[in-house]
Amino acid sequence: MTELTLPENPFRQGIDLRRVPEPSTLVIFGATGDLSRRKLLPSLFMMHKQGALPSGFSIVGFGRRPWSDADFRAFVKESLDDSPGQQPTRDVWSGFEQMLFFARGEFDEPEAYGGLAARLAEVDRQRARTGNRLFYLAVPPSGYPLVIEGVGRAGLGDRRGGPDIARFDAAESNSPARVLTEAGWARIVVEKPFGHDSPSATELNRQLQAWFREDQIFRIDHYLGKETVQNILVFRLANGIFEPVWNRNTVDHVQITVAEDLGVGTRGPYFEETGTLRDMVQNHVLQLLALVAMEPPTSFAASAVRDERAKVLGAIKPLVGKAVDSDVVRGQYKSGFIAGDPVPGYREEPGVSAESQTETFVALKVFVDSWRWAGVPFYLRAGKRMPRRATEIAIQFKRPPLLLFGDDPAREPEPNVLAMNIQPDEGITLKVGSKLPGPTIDIHSVHMDFRYGTSFGRRSPEAYERLLLDSLLGDATLFSREDSVQEAWRFVDPIEERWRERGAAPMAFYEAGAWGPKEAANLIAREHWAWRRL
Ligand SMILES: NC(=O)c1ccc[n+]([C@@H]2O[C@H](COP(=O)([O-])OP(=O)(O)OC[C@H]3O[C@@H](n4cnc5c(N)ncnc54)[C@H](OP(=O)(O)O)[C@@H]3O)[C@@H](O)[C@H]2O)c1
Repeated sequence: MTELTLPENPFRQGIDLRRVPEPSTLVIFGATGDLSRRKLLPSLFMMHKQGALPSGFSIVGFGRRPWSDADFRAFVKESLDDSPGQQPTRDVWSGFEQMLFFARGEFDEPEAYGGLAARLAEVDRQRARTGNRLFYLAVPPSGYPLVIEGVGRAGLGDRRGGPDIARFDAAESNSPARVLTEAGWARIVVEKPFGHDSPSATELNRQLQAWFREDQIFRIDHYLGKETVQNILVFRLANGIFEPVWNRNTVDHVQITVAEDLGVGTRGPYFEETGTLRDMVQNHVLQLLALVAMEPPTSFAASAVRDERAKVLGAIKPLVGKAVDSDVVRGQYKSGFIAGDPVPGYREEPGVSAESQTETFVALKVFVDSWRWAGVPFYLRAGKRMPRRATEIAIQFKRPPLLLFGDDPAREPEPNVLAMNIQPDEGITLKVGSKLPGPTIDIHSVHMDFRYGTSFGRRSPEAYERLLLDSLLGDATLFSREDSVQEAWRFVDPIEERWRERGAAPMAFYEAGAWGPKEAANLIAREHWAWRRL
């Protein structure tokens, strides 16, 4: 290998060397879209501000607008200015600005990918000189096959056959900067939704695997990048007291809620084709369930963690035919009030049919067929236009075996609940019974609280910051593997099929601003429990 010298050492003081990626170029397809503007660009800027990006790092926006680099830079600056708490100072912005480039093209224009390849080579010569590339598909799902094919045909996916470009050797980072010539890596990040059912997910995997190996593919579910979600496993496995009670012997049931106060907004046409089951349950809710219910992995290596996640998703008992009628509630919001303001019903939203049968709310009762969880119901609910935005996992434990405090219900202890708040206030609460001060034994519930915001005195990184960093590092632990995606569709498909068979019959309506329809309350009331008030 030929040795070259880099202008500066990309590793700076005060940064954990193990978590600094190699110099590389990120290509954002759909760089002018909502996801890019609200999430990706602000996250990248924050990473830059904190020194988490290597020097020589570049961002190439790919889009159909007739823009120059300067236009793209102005767009990024405007996006950051609109982003709360992100207004860049002149110094930090000028460093970030130099990373930004634009390549013009339509997704279905084959020559655009040749142009992109040329632009990448040029940017690479100026900056990273590594050939490392991360392609991010921030595009509508209909664009995935076009972009995957375009990137593949332009030879951008297979870096083994790529040009001889310099790669920085991290092992040499303490000696004068050195680079070794070699083709760099290529990875691709695919946004959700990953297909709309099992056959379409299989087809999307086939398209990806025609050009990329599985270890180059990063299927994103941004919930997995949230601190509290990552903390589920740490909490379970780094504390000796929890894992022994994490099973059917002590757990009565589990509740998982993913509630949004927003309606569909401008995304009516997209949502009409999707619905809450596919949009929220197939990915976020089932991934949360997997982290709660999975067996401890043998290590924290990506493959070990992903094996266990896939196994537990495969163990969810399918709901088929009449079981769907009894254990799944399908709801849609009507007009109502959110925080005192009137809001329209789903069928009055722009781009939504006046007879729409698309669900904006789902509640389910599911079981995990495993030794650990046999007989323990998992109640799942997700919905739009609920009273507030809240994502929570609650483990409700069984009552003590003997009630020693008399027949008076006031003296009966409430069950212990361990609640993990994923958003908006990331933290963990344990509800325990305690004696009320005084001469009698009256039991009241008190909360032992841990809040991320106050306990560590530092902000939690945005999920996208973590996931972008991991994909640049090649760490796939927090991304979905092909088998997990397939297992999730295996669960969802028969529910969709049953709904199609039954047409409009099972729709349950709720007023905007309520915690879902009464049928959802009835689902859990069958076991004499109630959904948690969040
Ligand atoms: N937005 C979110 O918060 C969010 C959250 C989770 C997942 N996602 C997923 O992320 C992906 C992108 O969502 P989004 O909300 O950012 O969508 P979006 O706002 O509609 O943006 C789509 C982007 O693709 C570009 N585009 C569309 N057709 C094109 C074509 N034929 N040639 C070139 N460029 C084209 C658009 O360019 P123009 O600007 O020129 O139209 C725009 O940059 C979707 O898969 C979505 O499901 C989004």
